[in-house]
Amino acid sequence: MATNWIPESWQGFEAKHLPVYEDATALDGAVKTLSSYPPLVFAGEARALKAELAEVSHGRGFLLQGGDCAESFAEFHPNNIRDTFRVLLQMAAVMIFASKQPVVKVGRMAGQFAKPRSAPTETVGGVELPSYLGDIINGIEFEEATRRNDPERMIRAYSQSAATLNLLRAFAGGGYANLRQVHRWTLDFMGRSPWADKFRDIADRIGEALDFMEACGIDPEHAPQLKSASFYTSHEALLLPYEEALTRQDSLTGDWYDTSAHMLWIGDRTRFDGSAHVEFLRGVGNPIGMKCGPSLEPDALLRMLDTLNPGREAGRMTLIARFGDDKVEAGLPRLVRAVQREGHPVVWSCDPMHGNVIKTNTGFKTRPFDRILNEVKGFFAVHRAEGTHAGGIHIEMTGQDVTECTGGAVAITNERLADRYHTHCDPRLNAAQSLELAFLLAEMLNLEAQQRQADAA
Ligand code: PEP
Ligand code: CO
Repeated sequence: MATNWIPESWQGFEAKHLPVYEDATALDGAVKTLSSYPPLVFAGEARALKAELAEVSHGRGFLLQGGDCAESFAEFHPNNIRDTFRVLLQMAAVMIFASKQPVVKVGRMAGQFAKPRSAPTETVGGVELPSYLGDIINGIEFEEATRRNDPERMIRAYSQSAATLNLLRAFAGGGYANLRQVHRWTLDFMGRSPWADKFRDIADRIGEALDFMEACGIDPEHAPQLKSASFYTSHEALLLPYEEALTRQDSLTGDWYDTSAHMLWIGDRTRFDGSAHVEFLRGVGNPIGMKCGPSLEPDALLRMLDTLNPGREAGRMTLIARFGDDKVEAGLPRLVRAVQREGHPVVWSCDPMHGNVIKTNTGFKTRPFDRILNEVKGFFAVHRAEGTHAGGIHIEMTGQDVTECTGGAVAITNERLADRYHTHCDPRLNAAQSLELAFLLAEMLNLEAQQRQADAA
């Protein structure tokens, strides 16, 4: 357990990107209410995820983490939850089938609401208002009243997270994720993508493998690994009053866990020496992610690892590299070498989204799919050269047929971005683009396995 730590000790540290609430009494009230509500996850589940991630940190398996940039109250709908979940299942099936390695599935779902923004205010037509900070803090409509920070929104975000998590648990354990259903996971609109055909191929072969097992006397209906999926939730632990309110002492071990999600991560803007966010996460037992961008120096990274994982527990730390496709091959190796040198067990994951944002001349924030694939290739190339395991992917995606990132096999052009641009923050991969990425990941994982075999021979 962390020493000199209590759930509120972050309050004595420098907190960036936290909202200021005008009404302190209302904030207190909301935090008190949340503190009396049930935890969303159980500590034992967070430990199970940690054990799965420990395997990945030892080179066995791959972390697939994905979902919205920002969940919203407006897009809260069972179909959205189902479609994102099933694209993640499809991606996992492709990667497991090709690489013969387990895939750990973690949603950026059921709690991913708060956003750090580059500017505190936004000006439209000469009017300046506070920036949108995510539905858990204020509203996206450009109106003075909506942009005011409202602590009551935390209660609504909690309820939405609970309902989302409930449906995810039902899908994961109730039959939807049964591998016998693999053909049904294809979304209608994906029919136009050539990758949908490739997926149907894999689904056929998975079906044959299950038939074969059944003929041999193994009934897949009685194998929990085939009948259900383990699925976890995660979000950026940004809004500390909310996270503190959901931090509870585990009755089995006496350790503290942030029960708002299984895994929490620290953003690129809040990971610095003396950060309140680092202080908060240091004391909870969950698996922790940390974004690593181009400004992170190896020494600073090692200090963070010593603070967040002094016991060097495997599965505790996932480092999420988000450099940009033109920077990853130059910037990442020094971080990887420093971590290797000091013997910190980590999962290295690749966020190919946040370093690849551009603005089109029509004013849309987008991410060219080519750059996303390039960053993934660069990330794998670095790990191949360093002899380390490329252990995961972290993406902003949705199961919806949106037009937010340009490119892909069903090419989205700059002109088409306006068709279905629905994100509440950053542009997401749509279902077809996500599946296409899964095939590239499968290929990369195979290359890694081949190299390992060659090295061992
Ligand atoms: C995010 O993941 O949505 C995000 C803000 O990323 P980063 O902290 O890497 O910029
Ligand atoms: Co984002």
